[in-house]
Amino acid sequence: MKKVGIIGVGEYLPEKILTNADLEKMVDTSDEWITTRTGIKERHQAAKGEAASDLAFKAAEEALKNAKLKAEDLDLIVVATITGDMPCPSVASILQNKLGAKGAACFDISAACAGFVYGISVAQQFVASATYKNALVVGVEVLTSVTDWQDRNTCVLFGDGAGAVVLSEVKNRGIISTYLGCDGSKLGLLNIPAGGSANPASTETVRNRQHFIKMQGNELFKIAVNTMTRAAEIVLEQAGMTFADVDIIIPHQANARIIMAVAKKLGIPEGRVYLNIERCGNMSSASTVTALCEAVREGRVKKGDIVLLDAFGAGLVWGACVIEW
Ligand code: ACO
Repeated sequence: MKKVGIIGVGEYLPEKILTNADLEKMVDTSDEWITTRTGIKERHQAAKGEAASDLAFKAAEEALKNAKLKAEDLDLIVVATITGDMPCPSVASILQNKLGAKGAACFDISAACAGFVYGISVAQQFVASATYKNALVVGVEVLTSVTDWQDRNTCVLFGDGAGAVVLSEVKNRGIISTYLGCDGSKLGLLNIPAGGSANPASTETVRNRQHFIKMQGNELFKIAVNTMTRAAEIVLEQAGMTFADVDIIIPHQANARIIMAVAKKLGIPEGRVYLNIERCGNMSSASTVTALCEAVREGRVKKGDIVLLDAFGAGLVWGACVIEW
């Protein structure tokens, strides 16, 4: 098996910023509530007509440039998203055409906030087995397109963005271990009830606002803390490491309180936790990857560092990954 690592990173956040002050004008909320309960100050919002593939394209171009590769060098494109341009075809197919990555195999992964970790875990197998040489993995969301702007429980949480990485053979250990999991019995805690085959779009589903994200945040909070803690323990054990070996943890950014509770349980000091939730909110599949890309660009992740990715979301799904940078 080949050793596989990340050789290029890129991210894109839409220009428009929606602040907590903007939300105060839309629903009965306050900057104080949002900041203390979630850690979010602002989030980016895609422009009207700006689709997931548009965001993905900008992040992917940046990642390819960073990897010093051309689109034609890609053999595989995997896009993690729950807000694709349309139900069919995949964002990966649309992105392939936009990039001009002729011949690359393409598919999407639906694993919500754990989507990016699922994506690199799957793509890694293709590169490790030498089936493909270069794989592009993108995490992208336009969550504001499925946000109910009348529901203060959810509309203050989500944002839009994209991050992309290129996976290829590396000389160091690269991706050391990955761990994925799911508990499908709790899907009622977080979902978009209509618009699929179980409940196709109709005037009634639109009237009942069933095309928007529904979430029982309070129920999920404790599960998120426990699951992310356990996932980190398992993936590090698989890697033959302890928390002392971790230089930086880059978690899914659903809530700063969840992240800090996980770090505390793991014994990882705050200074070794990367956060972008204050500026970006929760971007589901795009959160972990944009945070990783930003951390690399800011010099928070350096060559030889041990990076721990840890994510949890709708499904319920979770995933963790240890990478030597
Ligand atoms: N502004 C003001 N008050 C609010 C708001 C708001 N925006 N939203 C809720 N409230 C009120 C509630 O109505 C409630 O009032 P009540 O006590 O009078 O009934 C009170 O605040 C407390 O509400 P809770 O839901 O208990 O608030 P909590 O502290 O749990 O915070 C939150 C809510 C931020 C959603 C939190 O529970 C959370 O982050 N949960 C986990 C989310 C998560 O991990 N999801 C999975 C990943 S996301 C994905 O996969 C797409």
